[in-house]
Amino acid sequence: MSLQDQVAKRRTFAIISHPDAGKTTITEKLLLYGNLIQSAGTVKGKKSGKHATSDWMEMEKERGISVTTSVMQFPYKGATVNLLDTPGHADFSEDTYRTLTAVDSALMVIDAAKGVEERTVKLMEVCRLRDTPILTFINKLDRDVRDGIEVLDEIEDVLNIECAPITWPIGMGKSFKGVYNLLRDTTVLYKTGQGHTVQDVREIQGLNNPELDEAVGAAYAEELRDTLELVQGASHEFDLERFLAGKLTPVFFGTALGNFGVDHMLDGLVEWAPAPQPRDATSRTVAADEPKMTGFVFKIQANMDPKHRDRVAFMRICSGKYQKGIKLKQVRTGKDVRIADALTFLAGERDNVEEAFSGDIIGLHNHGTIQIGDTFTEGEDLNFTGIPHFAPELFQRVVLNDPLKSKQLHKGLTQLAEEGATQVFFPLRNNDVILGAVGTLQFDVVAARLKGEYGVDCRYEPVSVATARWVEAENEREMAAFERKAHDNLARDGAGHLTYLAPTRVNLQLAEERHPDILFRETREI
Ligand code: G4P
Repeated sequence: MSLQDQVAKRRTFAIISHPDAGKTTITEKLLLYGNLIQSAGTVKGKKSGKHATSDWMEMEKERGISVTTSVMQFPYKGATVNLLDTPGHADFSEDTYRTLTAVDSALMVIDAAKGVEERTVKLMEVCRLRDTPILTFINKLDRDVRDGIEVLDEIEDVLNIECAPITWPIGMGKSFKGVYNLLRDTTVLYKTGQGHTVQDVREIQGLNNPELDEAVGAAYAEELRDTLELVQGASHEFDLERFLAGKLTPVFFGTALGNFGVDHMLDGLVEWAPAPQPRDATSRTVAADEPKMTGFVFKIQANMDPKHRDRVAFMRICSGKYQKGIKLKQVRTGKDVRIADALTFLAGERDNVEEAFSGDIIGLHNHGTIQIGDTFTEGEDLNFTGIPHFAPELFQRVVLNDPLKSKQLHKGLTQLAEEGATQVFFPLRNNDVILGAVGTLQFDVVAARLKGEYGVDCRYEPVSVATARWVEAENEREMAAFERKAHDNLARDGAGHLTYLAPTRVNLQLAEERHPDILFRETREI
């Protein structure tokens, strides 16, 4: 198969959602459709007593490192789908944000009872930076949830994106009957208790088909027809171009737990979501089907198992193909490296996958030489842009239990910051060391790694920092003046960039008003 064909069939996406909306459950159903697992209930292992051994878990054991859950590749209807995991809950971190720079589309999962929640809003903001096309799955229709039109209104208002319903639910909770597909003009009937498997569904063609009234009951059929009239007036029609521009989202209803409606979404993803897109680099834009390989590192995952000290750098391939033994240049260092043992993630062929294509993710073994944002090429000097650092939201002061280890602490933290495990700030006014993170678990990980890898024993203390902004000015004079005036609130981050540490949001607002010449940035590109 030609490189063009390989690229054209790739769909690389991630799921954005608020904790508990159903990301894990839907991921599991996707793996079911991708034949990576034979029976759902294995990811959490709670719902079904039987633990079906999935290839996925086997891989995890074999490699002794849980990198495989970070990328799941599976075939579906002629496409090769790459699903990138976005850590949620406590392990929510900058990785979550940066993973979104490595995808070509995203699936937004919304709990139909709760509507648009805070984490989703934030993740959408990140998708906006690149106008990533978004598909939407409105989940948990098997429960008593909010009215569909109300939820769509909320998505349009809060997230500022047009909604184009592709399917519409009939009933909800105990009387959830199925969904009507507006594009296909078919109703698909829901069967309860089939969530662990890919079920045979009954389809009824046509909205006015008497079979529909018979199957769901005349009252529900009537209500569906009435509602659809309203829906068509109140929402948008699907428009591929607007979807690809990130302005409109196709919306699917269903229940991940009941494995219903998920396949409609997956069909939409394969049909409409973009294949690997061109990427901006410093010197030019790189097309996905260029023959020479390029890629960038968007995430580094440390192995928490002390027996395996290596880390894995996740690279998104942006053009060409990876072949075992390929020689690549790490542009930042100018060094050539031969890559013989990259991890690839194609289901079922786990042993000797020797190729990966533009759009795929590969894992490189990293012994501290690779940093987040690093570009690799077959020799060309270019650097991919747009891989951001995000302003952290949680801050702690690091206190050494052994004050003599200060040098090791600085070294360790600078390296961990380069890797993206945390952000570190050194205030100008004192010798404090302040850690910044976007998720609480990051602090524990950093403490454990400082101890394990650098022999540094430390603890944390609260610090009065509410938020941080990278600061910039047009010219050096303005910057120097600002540095004098705001000295007590300024710090340098691990890479030496000047950062404003605001004790409160109000303080930040005042500082922004007082210094109109200074740019306060929430993100910094690597
Ligand atoms: P997350 O990864 O987004 O955090 O969500 P997750 O899939 O873990 O789902 C959160 C909870 O919502 C889980 O229940 C899950 O079973 C439930 N859930 C997901 N999809 C549906 C759905 O379509 N319908 C219903 N009724 N529930 C759904 P839990 O009780 O918190 O966990 P567990 O006891 O099932 O493990």
